[in-house]
Amino acid sequence: MGFFRAGYYSANDKPVEIEVHGNVDGADEYILVAPLWAGGIAPAAREFLKSIPKEKVHLVVSSIGNHVRDRADFLSVNDITIISRNEKHVISTLVDTLR
Ligand SMILES: Cc1cc2nc3c(=O)[nH]c(=O)nc-3n(C[C@H](O)[C@H](O)[C@H](O)COP(=O)(O)O)c2cc1C
Repeated sequence: MGFFRAGYYSANDKPVEIEVHGNVDGADEYILVAPLWAGGIAPAAREFLKSIPKEKVHLVVSSIGNHVRDRADFLSVNDITIISRNEKHVISTLVDTLR
């Protein structure tokens, strides 16, 4: 049931309550890693994105094989997909761009 509920919440952009530990304000750049659920960023990560400027976020989305549709305004969007086995490549490319 949890799987279907999670997919329903994600597909319908349902708000969820999250608790953020630590201070995340004022960073120059953020790296947010989140799973893809039903074609969208998982609800908790989507909720967190409301509290930081999207244009400062390097988004890293892991999925089985689909790419996230909402890609606008992020500093970068990086797709890690299980079928491509591209995790190491995506992470090292992102790290190189941060240097
Ligand atoms: C509710 C739910 C919906 C998902 N929807 C998609 C999807 O639409 N496309 C996709 O490629 N992967 C989908 N996935 C797979 C997750 O993106 C994948 O499990 C995630 O990247 C984490 O990887 P892990 O399961 O190896 O920890 C879904 C997973 C869950 C739990």
